[in-house]
Amino acid sequence: MSAGILEWANLFVRWFHVIVGIGWIGTSFFFIYLDAHLTATLGGNKHSAGKIWLIHSGGYYEVEKLKYVPPAKIPELHWYKWEAYLTGLSGITLLFIVYYLGGSGFMIDPAVADISQGEAIGIGVLTLTGGFTIYELIWRSPLNRFEGLMNLVCFGLLIAIAWGLAHVLSGRAAYMHVGAMMGIIMVANVLFVIQPGQRRMVRANAAGQVPDPAWGNAAKQRSLHNNYMTLPVVFVMIGNHFPNTYGQKWNWVILIALFLVGAGVRYFLNTFDRGGKAAPYVLAGAVIGALALALITSVPMSGATTTGERVSFNQADAVIAHRCVQCHSARPTDDMFREAPNGVKFDTGQEITGLAAKIKLMAVDTNAMPLGNKTGMTAKERTLLGAWIAEGAPRD
Ligand code: HEC
Repeated sequence: MSAGILEWANLFVRWFHVIVGIGWIGTSFFFIYLDAHLTATLGGNKHSAGKIWLIHSGGYYEVEKLKYVPPAKIPELHWYKWEAYLTGLSGITLLFIVYYLGGSGFMIDPAVADISQGEAIGIGVLTLTGGFTIYELIWRSPLNRFEGLMNLVCFGLLIAIAWGLAHVLSGRAAYMHVGAMMGIIMVANVLFVIQPGQRRMVRANAAGQVPDPAWGNAAKQRSLHNNYMTLPVVFVMIGNHFPNTYGQKWNWVILIALFLVGAGVRYFLNTFDRGGKAAPYVLAGAVIGALALALITSVPMSGATTTGERVSFNQADAVIAHRCVQCHSARPTDDMFREAPNGVKFDTGQEITGLAAKIKLMAVDTNAMPLGNKTGMTAKERTLLGAWIAEGAPRD
């Protein structure tokens, strides 16, 4: 497929993915909020789980949650599922467009492992399907009675997968596959457990039976998993713009640490919604953890920032001309990129000095650029660029 078409497909599918994702996460947050703020109705219906009054869009909404409705009264039901399914489908499409069809630079980093694009895609697909299968096997087996222990086992497996991927794929692809694996598990939870449980409930209800609360337990368990996975998954989806995370040597540790920060914030929100008390400490822990992570990882990766000699603009320019302008130019010569990626061009001295801070982030502090080190940049050249920038990126 031509690179131009692929770029447009990337834009449209991404646009769609973000919008349906907002719909999914928005409704899920909204229902968590509703459930947490129901107030018991006095007297009234014995099947009532509580009521809430809301104001929005120029009117009041009176919402009551009922565990059972007499068959004659079953109204037209509005289900919430397409947000989840479409987020999943568009996400997988985007993964193909950007990572599987978009050139090996996104999947492979020769400094991590010298594998082919085919092998990298194989590892990626295996992670997505295998991760989901293992998760399902655990939670469908009798093991799911040991909920706390199984949560720990799943977290341990997640760490192992993050570690493993970080040693075979590029940092960026490793992150994206961990996130996509969790996203697929979340969609599958809706498709295979939560929705069937609700359909069963509605069928029983229509037959005049009060639904067995035990049916809802599995759905509740999966909903809770989804609840805690939401913030980590959203981090991964925006994280591929932040090489200070995936571009670092200990990228898998950073990923897990950020997952814990996200889960901590989620825990705080959950208890806050229910009027809990202990949660501010968890929030404080998450914030302090995030700050500590930011401080630790901001120490440059290549210790030496100076070569001992003054580096001139011409020397820096030569490195960039050699390693970067194949892609970052008004007229790229690279086989994949026909337009300067992200509009970043290094054709003139002004463009180069104007982006010195970004160059430092992408090619000195981290190895995020050149993409997949396609142009074979050396450690010495990175040090040279770092030294030039440390001198204030002079133009002479
Ligand atoms: C093989 C092509 C290729 C080469 C060579 C390359 N880049 Fe990039 N660069 C990209 C792509 C693709 C992106 C966009 C990444 C994305 O979508 O997030 C990018 C993005 C960037 C950005 C923008 C980051 C942002 O936050 O928007 C900077 C800065 C950058 N590259 C610097 C460099 C430097 C410096 C070099 C040389 C040392 C280099 N690149 C070499 C492909 C390349």
